[in-house]
Amino acid sequence: MAVILSFSEYTMLRAMFALLLPVLALLLRFIYRYRNARCQFPGPPVTNFWLGNLDQTMADDVYDKWLLWNRQYGHVFQTWNGPFSRVIYIGNPQMISKIASMNWPKSAVQYEGFKPLSGDALFLQTDHERWHRQRKRLAPAFQPHIIKGQYAALADHLTDYIRHIDTAADAQTTVELSSLHVLLSLDFVGTVAYGARFHAIRQGPDCRISRLLETILPELMKCGLFPLRKTFPILSKTRQMYRAIAELRAMAATAVQNARQDANHSEQSRKIFEILAKYVCLCYSPLPILPRFLTINSYLRHPDILAKLRAEVDAQIPFGVAIPSLDQVELPYLNMVLKETMRYRSTGFGTFRTCPVDSEIDGVVLPANTTLALWNPAVHRDPTLWEDADRFDPERWRPGQVKIKGSYFPFSYGPRSCIGQGLSMLIMTLTLATLFRRYDLSLEPGFEMECLPSFTLRPKRGLPVRVVRRTS
Ligand code: HEM
Repeated sequence: MAVILSFSEYTMLRAMFALLLPVLALLLRFIYRYRNARCQFPGPPVTNFWLGNLDQTMADDVYDKWLLWNRQYGHVFQTWNGPFSRVIYIGNPQMISKIASMNWPKSAVQYEGFKPLSGDALFLQTDHERWHRQRKRLAPAFQPHIIKGQYAALADHLTDYIRHIDTAADAQTTVELSSLHVLLSLDFVGTVAYGARFHAIRQGPDCRISRLLETILPELMKCGLFPLRKTFPILSKTRQMYRAIAELRAMAATAVQNARQDANHSEQSRKIFEILAKYVCLCYSPLPILPRFLTINSYLRHPDILAKLRAEVDAQIPFGVAIPSLDQVELPYLNMVLKETMRYRSTGFGTFRTCPVDSEIDGVVLPANTTLALWNPAVHRDPTLWEDADRFDPERWRPGQVKIKGSYFPFSYGPRSCIGQGLSMLIMTLTLATLFRRYDLSLEPGFEMECLPSFTLRPKRGLPVRVVRRTS
């Protein structure tokens, strides 16, 4: 049956078609680009359209997967966070060093999730000018002599730390070193940044600050992956997170106010308190502990390394010295072991950047506005860059050994690398030297270290260690 359209119907149909055509063209363009993006770089297959690769990248063994994917798919591969957001992992050292020095902004998609906690913090800045001003302002607080000036605070908290371990040694019970180290870091950050006593070691994991962080950090990670979660905080966990953040911020505000008013502080230390409290958020505080427990785990499995380390520590620090001085912790072998620990299993994974326009680097076309991960886990263990890459071997850090530029960056790379690395190295060195001079340590029989990746590496079941006081 023939359909006869009236003139007005015909005009309406034409108008609808004219309207639909651009929408259809846009849709086709999107599908075309999307399909191209899907196969632009190799990567693990997506089994669920809505999740992308999140089922794999959120799993406990993601660290091993990063190593595997780098070997399987090459130096540039991609994964999908959900249907439309992708991350391109760069594992080529030349490309890494070029991209890191490009002043390309950090990827807003990846860092947006941290905003509820860290607000305007330095590491979140995507505006280059603002970042530059903030970094310049913050840099004096991290100069070597200022960092060394924190020795007294650290030594003070280390006294609490060994008191705690002595008690376990006397009672012949195990010590859970990983959470003890978190508490030590919190006490230290409390003193230097907040001018406050958190009493974390004395009160244990139930201390207020530790509970606040336990409430905040896991939920913050989920908000980072699913931004709607933080925008519409309907889940009780999200609302608890916001309440805990408000409490932390109030503490920081009080700390800044106290530091400003306290006439006993020199101008400089007042400034340090203020800027640390303002820009260096507490989510960094567990970071320096991570290489420490990983280091301990690695030593205890390598008696030869332990013997060398012991010989060095014993030669520098006389028996009976509870907390070594700064001069006594000039320990080159310990430094090599720490470097190797951060190569073998890095604790901060790298950084996310994005290029404003399509850009070609070393023959690889990087699409505009897509997250680029300069990711160290795979690079640090790449057999094409490191001899016997999967072997824990501090000897590769003997002076004079040449390293390929861009192949090692536990503290990130380029102008936006970690401002706290000197401080972290001091904390790690001093704690480990104290520990190894005072105790014989052994792992619980059968204990295997497993890590949970969150913002950083975290131990799944802690690090239970048996401790015996040394007698010479
Ligand atoms: C072993 C311990 C640590 C490791 C492995 C580490 C690692 C890193 C990494 C990988 C980044 C780059 C993050 C990114 O771009 O997303 C970074 C940045 C940063 N870190 Fe650390 N960090 C450690 C300890 C610390 C400490 C103790 C502080 C401060 C007290 C600190 C302050 C910062 C700041 C402020 C930035 C941002 C720098 C900028 O954007 O200019 N870090 N760190």
